[in-house]
Amino acid sequence: MRNFIARPEHGVVWISGASSGTGRALALKLAGEGYKVAVTARNHDKLVELQVEAAGLSGSIIVLDGDVTDAEDMEHIMASIEYEHGALAMAILCASVYQPVHGEDLNRADFEKTFAVNLSGVVNCLLPAIRHMKAKGQGQIAVVSSVTGYTGLPTSAAYGATKAALINMAESLKFDLDKIGIRIQLINPGFVDTPARKDTFPVQALVSPEAAAERIAAGLKSQAFEITFPKRFTYMLKFLRILPYGLYFALVNRVTGWRERPVDDSHRSATPHPAE
Ligand SMILES: NC(=O)c1ccc[n+]([C@@H]2O[C@H](COP(=O)([O-])OP(=O)(O)OC[C@H]3O[C@@H](n4cnc5c(N)ncnc54)[C@H](OP(=O)(O)O)[C@@H]3O)[C@@H](O)[C@H]2O)c1
Repeated sequence: MRNFIARPEHGVVWISGASSGTGRALALKLAGEGYKVAVTARNHDKLVELQVEAAGLSGSIIVLDGDVTDAEDMEHIMASIEYEHGALAMAILCASVYQPVHGEDLNRADFEKTFAVNLSGVVNCLLPAIRHMKAKGQGQIAVVSSVTGYTGLPTSAAYGATKAALINMAESLKFDLDKIGIRIQLINPGFVDTPARKDTFPVQALVSPEAAAERIAAGLKSQAFEITFPKRFTYMLKFLRILPYGLYFALVNRVTGWRERPVDDSHRSATPHPAE
């Protein structure tokens, strides 16, 4: 069965998390290909800057700012697309935060914020988008996860947990969405050089947001379920999943140099445990 591929004539593309990094580069790329792109993030000024930068391209940028953690906001954005700008042909759910987590000093707020944006934020966009697409009988959805969702990596206890959940969510939804004409895809980039990057450990195969946007734009037009790049690196991480755990932990410790790193006390809470 061939799946629906959204073309500019099918309607609007909605990108959440488009004020910076990969989401922004992808919005410009798709506007350059003639798509009408509705962009969402909290920073209104950055979205307007993006709209100005896109002036003159064959497509256009529609600024619809909002916070993905607010379900009502996302319902309003969906209604605004539908009633003011046209049918929703494609939703690319990219909004995310990355808060490095250190196992020796866990902080509840890091988990709660990451889960709210990266996981509930995706659900808040998926619900109105799928309802709308189901009524139209067609649509395309791309969930942006990460290779950190494949396996546990240092500092990724919160971020990686949300990305692993998104991989599972997209895989699970595919079974039903296929039956109602909605095509779901999973985007698993390797490391991209964006404001989200924090130098917690040396990364390999870093790509620019523009290169990421090129790869994603091509993948959105393919029949593939997963869009992942650069493949040599991401397939190596996929392979790590099937290694016995002893080997897996030894390899990741070696490549990241994590075991040799001293415990970093700088982020520790002010009140020590009475046993310390
Ligand atoms: N960079 C990497 O190495 C890498 C690797 C694999 C996967 N990814 C994934 O790629 C996607 C894009 O990441 P990026 O690296 O381009 O990060 P980024 O530059 O930090 O962009 C994150 C975007 O999410 C938006 N956002 C954050 N919280 C939001 C909220 N509550 N409501 C609405 N929007 C919100 C931000 O806009 P505002 O702050 O204006 O709201 C921003 O536009 C993410 O899903 C990320 O997990 C990144």
